Amino acid sequence: MLFEFLIIVISIASWATSASSHGYEPEKSTCPINPLVRSATGLSKEETNYIESHYVLAKQSLEAYLSKLDYFNASKFLSEANPTIGLAFSGGGYRAQLCGAGQYAALDSRTNVVNGKGLGGLLQSSNYIVGLSGGSWLVGSVVSSNLISIDELINNNQLWQTTNSILNYFDNSVENLEMWFDIGEQVLDKQEAGFGISITDVWGRALSYPLLTTKPYYGAGYRFNDVLNETNFRNHYSPFPILVALGRVPNTNISPSNSTVFSLTPVELGSESPYLGKFVQSKYLGTKLDSGQPINDESCVQGFDNTGFYYGTSSSVFNEVVLYLDNSTLPDFLKELITEILLDPIEKANVDVAIYDPNPFYSKNNANNTIEESESLYLVDGGEDGQNVPLYPLLKRNVSCIVAFDNSADYLNWPDGTSLVTTYERQFSKAGENTPFPYVPGQSSFRNLNLTSKPTFFGCDAKNLSTLTDNIYGVPIVVYIANRPFTYWSNTSTFKLEYSLTERNAMISNGFAVASRLNGTLDEDFDVCVGCAIIHREEERLGIEQTDQCKKCFKKYCWDGTIYTGNQVYDNFDDNGVTNDWSWYNKDTIPGYNLTSPTKFKHHGSIPKRNKTVNCNCTAPTHWRKIHY
Ligand SMILES: *[C@@H]1O[C@H](CO)[C@@H](O)[C@H](O)[C@H]1NC(C)=O
Ligand SMILES: *[C@@H]1O[C@H](CO)[C@@H](O)[C@H](O)[C@H]1NC(C)=O
Ligand SMILES: *[C@@H]1O[C@H](CO)[C@@H](O)[C@H](O)[C@H]1NC(C)=O
Ligand SMILES: *[C@@H]1O[C@H](CO)[C@@H](O)[C@H](O)[C@H]1NC(C)=O
Ligand SMILES: *[C@@H]1O[C@H](CO)[C@@H](O)[C@H](O)[C@H]1NC(C)=O
Ligand SMILES: *[C@@H]1O[C@H](CO)[C@@H](O)[C@H](O)[C@H]1NC(C)=O
Ligand SMILES: *[C@@H]1O[C@H](CO)[C@@H](O)[C@H](O)[C@H]1NC(C)=O
Ligand SMILES: *[C@@H]1O[C@H](CO)[C@@H](O)[C@H](O)[C@H]1NC(C)=O
Ligand SMILES: *[C@@H]1O[C@H](CO)[C@@H](O)[C@H](O)[C@H]1NC(C)=O
Ligand SMILES: *[C@@H]1O[C@H](CO)[C@@H](O)[C@H](O)[C@H]1NC(C)=O
Ligand SMILES: *[C@@H]1O[C@H](CO)[C@@H](O)[C@H](O)[C@H]1NC(C)=O
Repeated sequence: MLFEFLIIVISIASWATSASSHGYEPEKSTCPINPLVRSATGLSKEETNYIESHYVLAKQSLEAYLSKLDYFNASKFLSEANPTIGLAFSGGGYRAQLCGAGQYAALDSRTNVVNGKGLGGLLQSSNYIVGLSGGSWLVGSVVSSNLISIDELINNNQLWQTTNSILNYFDNSVENLEMWFDIGEQVLDKQEAGFGISITDVWGRALSYPLLTTKPYYGAGYRFNDVLNETNFRNHYSPFPILVALGRVPNTNISPSNSTVFSLTPVELGSESPYLGKFVQSKYLGTKLDSGQPINDESCVQGFDNTGFYYGTSSSVFNEVVLYLDNSTLPDFLKELITEILLDPIEKANVDVAIYDPNPFYSKNNANNTIEESESLYLVDGGEDGQNVPLYPLLKRNVSCIVAFDNSADYLNWPDGTSLVTTYERQFSKAGENTPFPYVPGQSSFRNLNLTSKPTFFGCDAKNLSTLTDNIYGVPIVVYIANRPFTYWSNTSTFKLEYSLTERNAMISNGFAVASRLNGTLDEDFDVCVGCAIIHREEERLGIEQTDQCKKCFKKYCWDGTIYTGNQVYDNFDDNGVTNDWSWYNKDTIPGYNLTSPTKFKHHGSIPKRNKTVNCNCTAPTHWRKIHY
């Protein structure tokens, strides 16, 4: 009641202040001839076409990459085999974005590696690049900038200006007031045009300042569909991007065993989940549909798939930070929106929800699940079910190898394998049906067997997967690479929203070191070993014997099935990188930290107690109530 009244007041007020939404407000369009909603069997035609054209180029890159392998005829192999690669970048705020950027740079053949050695060419060889939450900021931002290389991004000095907090981008200047005024106008205009809004709209617009800096009006009108019009997409040079979010049905909690994983691509939004099994052409999001049919045959909507809104959706656990903005600098509309949420405990507990209203999957009379029953679609941060590394879309696409970058904060802001454990266990629930995933051990083994200290391959032997699935060659080998301190303390807090450019670049460099085994200095064959992982499923499928070189690699990097059962020795920070000074290195493998000398470990006697895994400090959302009508 109160809120309805509020909207009327705002609407009247806005006549006086109405400014252009700079393209944020969705607009009417004609409807396409082909159906807007499809059931989730296979891939859309657009994605299939893109992947087919891209794979021609990807194979050329892969051939060049695989030419490093000894006694291996890459061109012969690739004439009969079709290995495919998916890259996955975890969530974790700016930490995940920046660590991920260094990892991305290590895979990019365009990175200028002076005397060093990365995995250059893998980016170009991959079919998919997937990001979740902070990882969606990385993936979304680079693809929106024409798959920019990190070298170029740093040299241009426009994107990723992280010195001031995302919420105070222009450092308390007049421009900052303008920024919030513009954001308020844009979101209000969307609401007045008849679309549901949520704090995610506000958060997504704020995120666009550092992430879509070079677009007109900081990307207010830049749609995720527009990515396909970037040169490196028109020529099919780039891998196909996917951002990940989750459905959260009204009045419910999420658990890994019942979560609905949504993929947001430049062409579609939807889920293969048994709880939905549908995709909508995302270009036409915002169109009122009933059972996939436009309610008004003539009239569709475009422009709802705002790129920043997608980043906001995938990272909606951050919505909460918007509530604690210094509200004296906010325009009235935002002030009232925030006050309303702060005053209502139920709205506050559900502030993480991104509202997609109207719901493209709505079905008035034929709903087959709770998502189709609801007039709005509610999406939340992709990490809320514990699967912080976004693997589900890749498992649905049968890639031969996933390179999984885990920059999660499981323990002391380091990853401990929790995300993989969650994805592994989930395959036995209804939510995870038909997504076989290789065996992994528990977190204690990850930490005590050094599975996070150096890259580890999972699912090396397809034969061992026969208890999980009949389709053993459809299960990828997972190259798991976890955040570690090699050149910088990269375990910064998820909610750290400002980095000096020096810190930013140090995080990126450390990410490069993580993915490249410290520039190849810890293992000059690491690039070759990753090549071995990429080809192995296809070798197995075709009955081709692995080379001796690759056998050695697999001995070094494959998890061999060992489970750790001894006492906790906790993280083994290896004797390399920043940890290589023996006077500070924890030679009893006990982590320590000398705050006055934060570039070195300090050995100390007490072992920190392991808390329950906590992925963020946010209020866990418990209930839901429809808020914006
Ligand atoms: C690789 O195999 C092709 C046949 O597919 C052959 O023509 C070529 O000579 C081989 N290259 C090497 C270096 O053996
Ligand atoms: C890689 O190694 C070279 C030479 O050791 C060094 O100059 C360069 O800074 C390193 N690059 C990164 C990103 O660590
Ligand atoms: C695609 O990009 C070109 C050149 O950058 C631009 O002129 C054109 O308007 C864009 N098309 C669409 C549909 O955005
Ligand atoms: C999902 O699982 C959680 C934890 O078991 C439970 O609280 C919640 O009600 C379930 N949600 C749905 C939609 O079934
Ligand atoms: C629900 O399932 C029935 C039977 O398969 C189907 O006819 C109907 O179209 C489905 N509803 C929607 C909204 O897809
Ligand atoms: C501004 O924020 C403060 C502190 O959160 C709160 O007490 C106050 O009511 C807010 N004012 C408005 C107008 O929202
Ligand atoms: C993946 O493999 C399964 C099982 O063979 C098949 O049903 C499905 O269509 C495949 N998906 C894609 C995207 O190729
Ligand atoms: C970073 O890692 C070190 C070693 O595990 C730990 O002592 C420190 O508390 C962590 N820092 C943060 C900000 O979590
Ligand atoms: C893990 O790494 C530490 C430090 O390099 C080493 O001492 C230890 O033996 C390793 N553990 C295993 C199981 O390889
Ligand atoms: C696969 O199974 C064999 C036989 O059970 C076992 O020796 C081997 O360690 C397993 N390999 C992996 C990678 O789990
Ligand atoms: C921390 O490191 C500094 C500089 O290396 C050293 O002087 C200081 O004694 C160390 N502090 C502790 C508590 O060990």
